[in-house]
Amino acid sequence: MKIDVLTLFPKMFENFLQESMVKKAIDVKAIDVKITNIRDFAKDKHHTTDDYPYGGGAGMVMKPEPIYDAIQAVQKNENVPIIYFTPQGKLLKQKTVNRYSQIDRIIILCGHYKEIDQRIRDLVITAEYSIGDYVLSGGEIPAMVMIDALARLQDGVLGNITSALDDSHQNGLLGCPHYTRPPEFMGLKVPDILLSGNHRKIEEWREEKSLEITEKNRPDLLKEIS
Ligand code: ADE
Repeated sequence: MKIDVLTLFPKMFENFLQESMVKKAIDVKAIDVKITNIRDFAKDKHHTTDDYPYGGGAGMVMKPEPIYDAIQAVQKNENVPIIYFTPQGKLLKQKTVNRYSQIDRIIILCGHYKEIDQRIRDLVITAEYSIGDYVLSGGEIPAMVMIDALARLQDGVLGNITSALDDSHQNGLLGCPHYTRPPEFMGLKVPDILLSGNHRKIEEWREEKSLEITEKNRPDLLKEIS
C-alpha cells in the first residue's frame, strides 16, 4: 500500500516512521510512506502557505495553490482517495480503516493553523475524518493514527493475524483484559479460567468481559450493533 502524506511539518514523521509496527510494515514492504512538504510548492519568495481569512476573524487559513499543486504532483492523474483530517470530519472508525487497508494507494492531506481554503475541500478531497471530539493543532497526528492503524492490518506485519481480529472495535465491542506471567503480581492473581486450558470456557469468559467493559465505558457501541 502506498501512502502519500502532504504536510507543512515533515519532520514530525521522522521518528514515527522508524519505530515499532510502522517501521516493520515499511521494512517488509507492506507499506510505502512518502512525505511531501507542501511548502516546496509555494512559489513566492517567502514560500508563503497561509494567509488571513476573508471576512476577518482569528487564525490563518492555508492557501489553496500550494496544496493543489502538491496534490497534483503526487497524484499523477491516478484516481486515488484523498483524505483530509479535520475536527469537522466523520469520526474515524475501525470499519473505515479496514476498508482503506484493502486499497493500494491513498493520499493524506494534513491541515494546520485554523483550516485549509474551502475550495481545496470542494475540488479534490474525497473524504474527511476526525479522530475524536477535540481539536488538535494540525492533521499530522491524525495522519499518523491512520498510518499506524493501516500498517498493522497489512499482510506480514502482525506476527499473528488473529491478533488483529480480536482487537477492540473489530467486532464492534471493546477488547477483554489480558494477562501474562507472573501468575500473581502485587497480590493480584490471574483469573483461574485463563490457566484452566479450557479453550471454550476461556473464549466465553473473554466475550463476557468484552461485553462488561463495553457496557461500562462505551454503551453507545452496544446500541450500534443491536
Ligand atoms: N485536526 C485538528 N483536530 C483534529 C481532529 N480531532 N481529528 C482530525 N483532524 C484534526
